[in-house]
Amino acid sequence: MPFAEALQAEYAWLHRHPELSFEEHAATAHLKAELEALGARILGTGLETGLVAELRGGRPGPTLALRADLDALPIAEDPSHTLRSEAEGRMHACGHDFHAAALLGAAALLAQRKAELAGRVLLVFQPGEESGRGALRVLATGALEGASAIFGLHLLPGLAPGAVGLTEGANFAAIGRFSIELQGRGCHAAQPHAGADCVLAAARLAESLQSVVSRNVDPMHPAVVSVTRIQAGNTWNVLPGAALLEGTTRCFSASDDALIARRVQEICQGVAAACGVRARLTWPTRHPATDNAPALIARARAAAGAEGIPCVPAAPTLLGEDFAFYQQKLPGAFLTFGLNSAPLHHPAFAADPAALEPAARLLARLALLPWGAD
Ligand code: NI
Repeated sequence: MPFAEALQAEYAWLHRHPELSFEEHAATAHLKAELEALGARILGTGLETGLVAELRGGRPGPTLALRADLDALPIAEDPSHTLRSEAEGRMHACGHDFHAAALLGAAALLAQRKAELAGRVLLVFQPGEESGRGALRVLATGALEGASAIFGLHLLPGLAPGAVGLTEGANFAAIGRFSIELQGRGCHAAQPHAGADCVLAAARLAESLQSVVSRNVDPMHPAVVSVTRIQAGNTWNVLPGAALLEGTTRCFSASDDALIARRVQEICQGVAAACGVRARLTWPTRHPATDNAPALIARARAAAGAEGIPCVPAAPTLLGEDFAFYQQKLPGAFLTFGLNSAPLHHPAFAADPAALEPAARLLARLALLPWGAD
């Protein structure tokens, strides 16, 4: 089967079998078999889902990690898709099926060209990216010890179709997911003086949190604080004694991230005190912004040039990526790949299977280029 067709078949299999974060058992088993057939060695990481495979080149050299992600989203796919998810209510709406198929394609190309390859390539098929914790699980296995660089690739609608987006420094934001539990005292709605109203406190809190970006963060720095969920009460004539708020924060620098977290905490405590309720703030997920090493961006530009793939500068986005955790441990570059599609995480999002071959060639070339030339 021609290479492009084989890649599209792999992609189609992954697309039809979407699995949520840390449930990627079928994809892991499928990829493991394919990689072993290519002669790659599966490392004993102890990961329940996801895997790290190794290809050794014919010559000595550094260790390079190439990372793809595996998980899908709890989104019902738009029926207009020609290639359909076979799992009710789940779909690959972030293109992770494309990323994994492209990395498998790169592994096939590298396996054919082992003699040219200097050093080792670690093929990281990461679980649980959407949870914000998958990269940490891979790092905790120690499988990346000794790697000197890491690359990742993500589809990005809005970027020129077929082009590689390159950004030095941060291109994906630091993100926080926050949860605020309010505890007051329920009472009859006709006797508000007898309770401590959590609905009023939740409303004030959602409104007050908007001042973090408008009054605390430097207006020249991009940042977001969004309250996305408020839950309280279950009828019309009772003031509830508890409420739950959830939301997300986004920014690009560690100092802004710390400032936002501090102000969210202070506003929680201040509003709670003013309303006579208690607030408990937790952060189920927080990760830093990506930080792309200029030397690796130069290597990506050279690799794209060698494969005839256009490069464009890519503006930073307030989307988040847990790839940032790898970059805290070793130099890395997170590349984007343009396409015409509905946005990421949208039911109508659709990758372009024709772009798999150039994406695979780009990833393979990142490993094959001579080191030291950049
Ligand atoms: Ni994604």
